[in-house]
Amino acid sequence: MTTLQKYLSYVYRIVVEKTTSKFNSQLIVAIQDGKYVLNAKNANYSFATLHKVFQQALKKVEIQNVKSILVLGCGAGSIPAIVYKELGLKPKIDAIEIDEKVIELGNKYFGLDQYSHLNVVIDDAMNFVKSTNNKYDLILVDLFKGINVPEEFLSQHFFEQLKSLLNDNGELLFNYVAYNHETKHRVKDIENVLAKSFSNRIKIHQLENINRVFYVKK
Ligand SMILES: C[S@@+](CC[C@H](N)C(=O)[O-])C[C@H]1O[C@@H](n2cnc3c(N)ncnc32)[C@H](O)[C@@H]1O
Repeated sequence: MTTLQKYLSYVYRIVVEKTTSKFNSQLIVAIQDGKYVLNAKNANYSFATLHKVFQQALKKVEIQNVKSILVLGCGAGSIPAIVYKELGLKPKIDAIEIDEKVIELGNKYFGLDQYSHLNVVIDDAMNFVKSTNNKYDLILVDLFKGINVPEEFLSQHFFEQLKSLLNDNGELLFNYVAYNHETKHRVKDIENVLAKSFSNRIKIHQLENINRVFYVKK
């Protein structure tokens, strides 16, 4: 990023790379307010609003005690940047991402390959949760196609799989975007489905206006 680009980016968004992939019809790396961001069609994937959501969401968990984290939806790596660089913590993170192109952009612009405790896995999150034998203290679900969470990740079957991957007292944060009448209405349904797998009380945090982050503890 040149100094000129950095200053101009406070006035307007500067697109530095625009591409497409099998999984995402649009992937845009831009400079906004002096920082690189990754956007998909109609949505920020990493380092803008999404970054703020997880900065706030991670304050809702016992992050200092967490030794192992599973991130479903690695994106360009806002979550590792918050955990390792901003909070200065060193838990092991497995981050699963279906789209190799997203990881390429993460490495090229966002230093995703700089973290020694981060293990990036290119795989479908559903496939990973079904096949892994690992257990985690914290699971962060951040799976989107554009602005929508794919339907299979809102099912009780998926929540049961997540529960089986949590250590005792393990915590789960699940990011969802309620951006219109239908998706706002869906929040209660998701809470009810989650409640079938997790008997502990579910908290729903409204962050950055449209994000709803569900929190449960095993
Ligand atoms: C909002 S972004 C994730 C941002 C990321 N958590 C971060 O910290 O920067 C959502 C990501 O989910 C990925 N994704 C969507 N469906 C997926 C699936 N079935 N398995 C794994 N990743 C998926 C998308 O390619 C996209 O990179």
